[in-house]
Amino acid sequence: MTSHADDHIICIIGAGYVGLVTAAGLAEAGREVRVVEVDAHRRAAVVAGISPIFEPGLDELLGAVVASGRLRAVETMKEGAAGAGIVIVAVGTPPTHDGEADLSQVRHAVDQALAEVAPGAIIAIKSTVPPGTTRALARDSRRNDVTFVMFPEFLREGSALEDLRHPSRVVVGGEDIAAVQRVAALMGGSGTTRLLCDSVSAELVKYGSNAFLATKISFINEMAQLCELTGADIEKVADGMGLDPRIGRSFLSAGLGWGGSCFPKDVRALETSAGYHGQSFWLLKAAIEVNSQQRRRFTAKLVQGLGGSLEGRRVAILGLAFKPFTDDMRQAPAAEVIRQLEDFGAEIIATDPAAIHVARPLLPRTTLVADPYEAVTGADAVGLVTEWPEYRELDWGRALGLMKGRLVVDGRNCLDGEAIAGHGGVYVSMGRRPRGPGSALPLAVGEAGSGAVRPVPLG
Ligand code: UDX
Ligand code: UDX
Repeated sequence: MTSHADDHIICIIGAGYVGLVTAAGLAEAGREVRVVEVDAHRRAAVVAGISPIFEPGLDELLGAVVASGRLRAVETMKEGAAGAGIVIVAVGTPPTHDGEADLSQVRHAVDQALAEVAPGAIIAIKSTVPPGTTRALARDSRRNDVTFVMFPEFLREGSALEDLRHPSRVVVGGEDIAAVQRVAALMGGSGTTRLLCDSVSAELVKYGSNAFLATKISFINEMAQLCELTGADIEKVADGMGLDPRIGRSFLSAGLGWGGSCFPKDVRALETSAGYHGQSFWLLKAAIEVNSQQRRRFTAKLVQGLGGSLEGRRVAILGLAFKPFTDDMRQAPAAEVIRQLEDFGAEIIATDPAAIHVARPLLPRTTLVADPYEAVTGADAVGLVTEWPEYRELDWGRALGLMKGRLVVDGRNCLDGEAIAGHGGVYVSMGRRPRGPGSALPLAVGEAGSGAVRPVPLG
């Protein structure tokens, strides 16, 4: 254990999406950063200045800061924490089977750090943890010369560097204001909004932010359902609602709902944590239910559009990652939808610009191809799941020419329905009227297998 803690030296535990982006950003800002990563492959990649994760701009930045010597990936906490003033914990908090956040990685990382950090150092929790965790870690710590703060992250995958360089806010919570201020100084510039508070409030700022955004999406998806029942257009409705600055248009995009490494686990963890405190968080229960319905509604549009059965049908799926500009398949809607379609007897050919290598072990029954035109060849229907620009710019005349059927179901309302209809296709989306020849589909589509729907032959 070295003698004193220097805030110029930052140790980050975990080179995942959050840890690695934070590390590269702090090194870019001039700090000396050590990343402690247990996974040998990830560590070796970082040592070589190569990003082990798909994140726009991270490869270039990592190459530069590793070459400059300001960022080093190390195996042991001894190397990582030596002389560090601030140790940032960014290890996983995956959900347990009952939805609670599994804190074992956080506790293990904290124990290791406590054995090595210098007196006066701060342990800053960046992993998303339930309310009261930071305080409990401080209480259980056998070192009273080390302080704990909660330092939540708000990075979005696919734009993480942008979010890090221009944070909408920096939030740090703790019971020691000097420590809180030292950590708050790490991020942002003079114009950055900083919220300094107690650790429990900071923990709930994080959960509340993710849960509110997820609820906002589930709300617009329920509105989309009503638009189908009334003949309205959800995009117009969202535009109109979003013009109110109290509402805002962002996170009002209807579609297949939310997935990814954060929203699903954080919404469940918050709902579960509230339960432990004797509260039924009804809004979150509803947001979760609506979100899973969205996958079934999408599947129902394909089943119904192909005459009520998928037996022997070939369906092409465009997009696998949970959102564009990432290769992350954690809680990706595509995996759920593909499994549902395969269970209905369909043969699935799927494509994605970045996530095929991640998807392969998850989807053993699915044919995965890199070229979207190859994917749609001979397909009875196409389902769009991830709104990559590549699919927005597809030549639909060519695609429809290669398809066997005419049905295109857009789960992200991002395709040009007019163009598809213009090429003889039938364009079905979420919360809007179908378009194209013979698209006399009923306005509302019932749950797959509900029997309430009337098959319309399109194939
Ligand atoms: C993590 C948390 O999961 C999330 O709750 C929080 O909001 C942000 O940080 P993410 O970066 O996506 O999210 O996690 P993940 O991609 O799983 O990366 C965690 C990394 O920590 C992995 O590379 C893992 O190998 C590493 N790790 C885990 C360690 O180096 N040491 C450990 O003891 C445990
Ligand atoms: C999210 C939070 O935005 C970020 O602040 C936090 O740090 C981590 O979790 P991320 O998981 O990368 O980031 O994805 P985000 O861009 O928030 O999208 C989450 C999910 O919601 C995706 O599946 C996306 O497709 C979906 N979504 C988003 C919608 O369905 N509609 C929208 O309007 C916006």
